[in-house]
Amino acid sequence: MPRTLAVETSCDETAVAVLGGDGRIEANELASQIAAHAPYGGVVPELASRQHLTALPLLVERAVERASGPIELVAVTAGPGLIGALLVGVRFAAAFAWARGVPLIAVDHLHGHLVSPFLSLDGDAARPMPDRVLALVASGGHSSWYLLADGRPRRLGRTRDDAAGESFDKVAQALGLPYPGGPVVDRLARYGDPSRVDLPRPVIADAPADFSFSGLKSAAIRWLRANRLAGVGVEDPPPAMVDLLASFELAVVDQLLRPASALVRDHEPRLITASGGVAANTLLRQRLRRLGDELGVEVVLPPVALTTDNAAMIGRAGQLAHAAGAVSDPRRLDARARHAWQPPGMKRFPQRSGSARMVGRGEP
Ligand code: KG4
Ligand code: ZN
Repeated sequence: MPRTLAVETSCDETAVAVLGGDGRIEANELASQIAAHAPYGGVVPELASRQHLTALPLLVERAVERASGPIELVAVTAGPGLIGALLVGVRFAAAFAWARGVPLIAVDHLHGHLVSPFLSLDGDAARPMPDRVLALVASGGHSSWYLLADGRPRRLGRTRDDAAGESFDKVAQALGLPYPGGPVVDRLARYGDPSRVDLPRPVIADAPADFSFSGLKSAAIRWLRANRLAGVGVEDPPPAMVDLLASFELAVVDQLLRPASALVRDHEPRLITASGGVAANTLLRQRLRRLGDELGVEVVLPPVALTTDNAAMIGRAGQLAHAAGAVSDPRRLDARARHAWQPPGMKRFPQRSGSARMVGRGEP
């Protein structure tokens, strides 16, 4: 596969990577905007776009310097995400591809998360993805189970309300903990008693593979208010807070993994994966590995640093899409705020010669 420059600007992280033809990560650059948004208590879209605009050219320059050869393909997240933030990445990537006369591939952010378990941070080639992968994606915006079969993801279950990561963030916010909440909850919950607070784990009767986090989150917030823990912060965490976090974390992990055994039985996957920011969670990783052992199915998890948003995963998804014959027109590629497996402007050209048609400089 071609050496790929990848650009990801869907939210509050500017990320650029270069992947060798075998999916080996040659460069993986990240500029986090957390400090810029912190005073506002959440991501300010206009500020995000401006930060991407400043950071992106510098990161691309650094990544290209680290590449072990010329860039032959450009992959960029076209959605879903903040539209202004996405546009910065899309227009930059399109201009880069056009100027160098190399093909451009639009990538769906979720597709990136789905391929991230197959990447290595140790300088190894990407692991080939077998057919029939049962994949959990749990991030700040999504919580779903997919079956990847015949080259396409099919959604088998989803959250009916909040995403898992969002529920971590909201409970952390109510306690006065820093954003994003997931990492700090993960760290503190290690010291708590997960049986202290009984939290609801609703089952959706007509869709047993679906889950809900909103009631769980609200019950946790009610409990912390009743126990005078609102806004206490991270300085000197009281035992009740640490117990609540352990109980909450266990309930979220239980919810996410509840459908797994039935999905394995019904779909007979070759592998189980998890990705997205919540896949960094220590308890989720432990439980998933244990479940895999019990069910006799291998569990493949991304390196922790590749669970949250990064460009390497976008590069790998772009390489796989390119190998399947997809290419985007740099003059027409647009960003989109919502999720779509085939972002706008992406075409599948007829594959006569077995390689994708190039769209770039010199084309009419
Ligand atoms: O994938 P990601 O970087 O961005 C989205 O596409 O949403 O995921 C970010 C989410 C945040 O909600 C964050 O709190 C959560 O992932 N997260 C975690 C952990 N690390 C990040 N949640 C639980 N445990 C963690 N260790
Ligand atoms: Zn993400």
